[in-house]
This record gives sequence, C-alpha cells and structure tokens, in this order.
Amino acid sequence: MNKFIPLSQPSITQLETEYVMDTLNSGWVSSLGKYINLFEERFADYCGTNYALATSSGTAALHLALASYNIKAGDEVIIPDLTFIATANAVTYTGANIVLVDIEQDTLCIDPAKIEQAITEKTKAIIPVHLYGHPANMIEINKLAQNYNILVLEDAAEAHGAKVKWQKTGSLGDCGIFSFYGNKIMTCGEGGMITTNDEEFYQRAKYLRDHAMNSSKRYWHDEVGYNYRMTNMQAALGLAQLERIDELINKKIEIFELYKKFLLGIPGVKLNFTADWASNVYWLICLEIEGYTEKERNHLMDALKLKGIETRPYFYPISDMPMYKRNKMNTPVTHEAYQRGINLPSYFELKDDDIAYICESLQPLIEVHQFLLGSADILSE
Ligand SMILES: Cc1ncc(COP(=O)(O)O)c(C=O)c1O
Repeated sequence: MNKFIPLSQPSITQLETEYVMDTLNSGWVSSLGKYINLFEERFADYCGTNYALATSSGTAALHLALASYNIKAGDEVIIPDLTFIATANAVTYTGANIVLVDIEQDTLCIDPAKIEQAITEKTKAIIPVHLYGHPANMIEINKLAQNYNILVLEDAAEAHGAKVKWQKTGSLGDCGIFSFYGNKIMTCGEGGMITTNDEEFYQRAKYLRDHAMNSSKRYWHDEVGYNYRMTNMQAALGLAQLERIDELINKKIEIFELYKKFLLGIPGVKLNFTADWASNVYWLICLEIEGYTEKERNHLMDALKLKGIETRPYFYPISDMPMYKRNKMNTPVTHEAYQRGINLPSYFELKDDDIAYICESLQPLIEVHQFLLGSADILSE
C-alpha cells in the first residue's frame, strides 16, 4: 500500500466516545442537555472569562458576536488580509464593510503599526486573527482600540490555549470567538464559542442565538434572530476534548520542535515564529521558503504529494477574492507570505518517523531550489 500522511486528523479516544454515547443513550441530542452547560462553563474557566456561549460553528460565533454588538451597514471592521474567509464573510453578513490590513512578516498576524492608518470615523471594530496558533499583538491592538473607542473581537478559531504573556486567547479583547471544526486543536465535529466578560453582550448574544425568543413569553419574537445553537452531542465531544487540551497542545508543540530540529539548518527555510511575549500552540506547521514564487511553491506541494505527504498552501489573501478584490500593493507582506507558505502535517498521532520522512523528502527539494537561485544570481552578475 502507498504511504499517505494526512495534514490533520482529530484525536478521538474512549473518553470522547463515552460522552457522545451518553447523549445518544439519554435522548438529549439537540441543543438542550447537561453537556452544553458543562462545556460552556469549563471553556469559560479555561479561557479565564466570566462567560462562554456555544454556537453551531466558528463562523456563526463571529456573526453572532458582530450582530450582538449591532455592527451594521455603513460600519467598517478592520481585519487582516491573511485569514480564513470566514472572518471577512461574517462581517459582510452584517452589511458592514471589511477594511483589510497587512500582516507582520514574522507572526503572520495583523500588523498593529498599520492599523491606525486604516481607522476612520466609521470604524466600529477590529478582528485580530490569531493565525496558525500564534496570538496577534493584543497589547498594541488594545491600546489603539482604547484610544479610538473601537471594539476588539479576537478571532481565536486557530489558537485555543495560546497566550499573550500569561493571559489566554479569548480573554484579551471585548470578546473571543473559537472554532471546533474537525481540524482544529480541539473539535466538536463542527462548533464554535464566544467568550467574554461583558454580561450585557453575553445576554444579547444568547438571546439572538435562539431566534431572539422572548424569555418570559415562549414563541414570541420582537426581532430577527438566528438558530446558531450547538447540539448536546457536539458539546459532549467538546467537553472530552477540553479535558485533554493540555495533552493536545503539548503534542502540537512536540511536533513543531521535531520539525525545527530537522529543518532549521537548511538555508532559506522559515518555520513558525514565536514572539517573546507569546505562547504559540502551533495549530499548523508553517513552512516558508525564501525566494519562492507561487508556482514553485505549488511544485513543491505536488512533489510532496507524490511521496504521499498531504500539505496545504497558506490562505489566499482576502484581497485576491473576487468579492473583496483590492489593490495588491496595499498588502505586500500578505502576498509574499502567501506565495511562499505551506502547512505541513501535524496531526496528533503523527509519528517521529513520519516527521523524519517528511523532512528527508523536503530537504533535497529545497536545496536544489536554493542552488538554482544561487546560480541565477551568479549568472546575472
Ligand atoms: C481564522 C478562522 N476564523 C473563523 C473560522 C470559522 O470557523 P468554522 O469553520 O467553525 O465556521 C475558521 C475556521 O475554520 C478560521 O480558521
């Protein structure tokens, strides 16, 4: 049989099976049941916030949070150009406009130094994205937000448990949002969460999550809400994963350390960076190769595929998408990172031997490219 190393896979143990089976056996399969409350309480504790509200997905959590803050047509929301499309789409659902800001070359997160020039009197919120497991620079972002009286919604979909200094993501802005999609640090299959210390906002989001149903008059609705509820089955899976979160994050860190050991000496290679104020949870392994064009990056991915190694490219810049098209020159760092960057396998059951095999497959491919680059330099002199 041919070798196949997937990019990601969830880690499901007896504990997850037990909790999910409990919901099936009890008949509480929809959005009422003990696991929802337990999962919300424990997730809030984990993040260090007063409240957590479970949703049907991370995208739903983003939209619900924006709607609960009354972000609407005519408003502007600042987001990074390098992120998953959900960050942009959730803003668009509200009728507000996205304003795209470039990223930092090292952390791959929104560049605080470039945010101020994007602020106008229409700016209502910033959504920093903690990309690939590294937190955005919340210290600088919060200072700016305070000066301009702007909301900060952390998109922590990819960074459960990451920290800025000692404080966990989800507790660093006005609210945090998480995703529990199957490839995330912890999963519910599909699912999301909003975390916050703001009671009024929490109550509003809870109300809108359930079709804005009047709490003292069942089936009466004063405004348009949503069904963004999580099921008890998803919450049972989520609770079991949360009980194992330290183990899951430690495994991600171990995997990164091993890649680093094998790849860091190779000229032109950049792996995940960690700022001195941050704890990275290394959701995905990020490999960038100096001087790569998009085409060369794609060739490398094809060559790895032939060896049974699944990879994926960094996200396309949001400003390249037809519905959000902008001038490329405004976000050069995003565009450069995109064309150089790929994510390597980092699922929880990945063996040390598999990482060695991936790195042994990569090394000659990268070295040949660096050699050709060097020769081109000599020829052009
Ligand atoms: C940065 C980011 N934001 C939002 C989302 C949306 O989460 P979901 O897929 O659960 O809707 C994701 C994940 O997929 C993501 O990576």
